[in-house]
Amino acid sequence: MSIDWPLLRREAVALTRRAYAPFSSVIVGACGVTDDGRVVRGCNVENASIGMTLCAECGLVSDLAATGGGRLVAIAIVAGDGAPLAPCGRCRQVLYEHGGPALVIDGGEGAEPTTLGALLPDAFGPDEVVARAGT
Ligand code: THU
Repeated sequence: MSIDWPLLRREAVALTRRAYAPFSSVIVGACGVTDDGRVVRGCNVENASIGMTLCAECGLVSDLAATGGGRLVAIAIVAGDGAPLAPCGRCRQVLYEHGGPALVIDGGEGAEPTTLGALLPDAFGPDEVVARAGT
């Protein structure tokens, strides 16, 4: 499947404008594509408790589920300057559930994309839960 990176980047940048980030002022947008070609989106939503902040990738995963589920194939995550933002540790795990190690993550224009498998090696995923249940 060929990935329309310019579209994903453009939409991710647009999503930064929807971010609610009054505490950090770091606005983040994420845009991904599913294996059936749907485009899903998210932005960060902060909270006065700080710890309850929702990252842009969490919003995107909610959009994924709400619009029919499926597998995430590729994702662009950017901050307000339009440059790629490395997903935080928690979001790597959240994304792993829905894209696995093959999920392709944008490195920005002119840069090689990476994979979630490279960012989260030896991940604990849903297969592991099944394999270890009751052992
Ligand atoms: N943030 C994201 O939205 N995604 C990440 O992967 C890293 C961090 C947000 C959370 C918070 O609102 C702001 O960036 C600063 O940490």
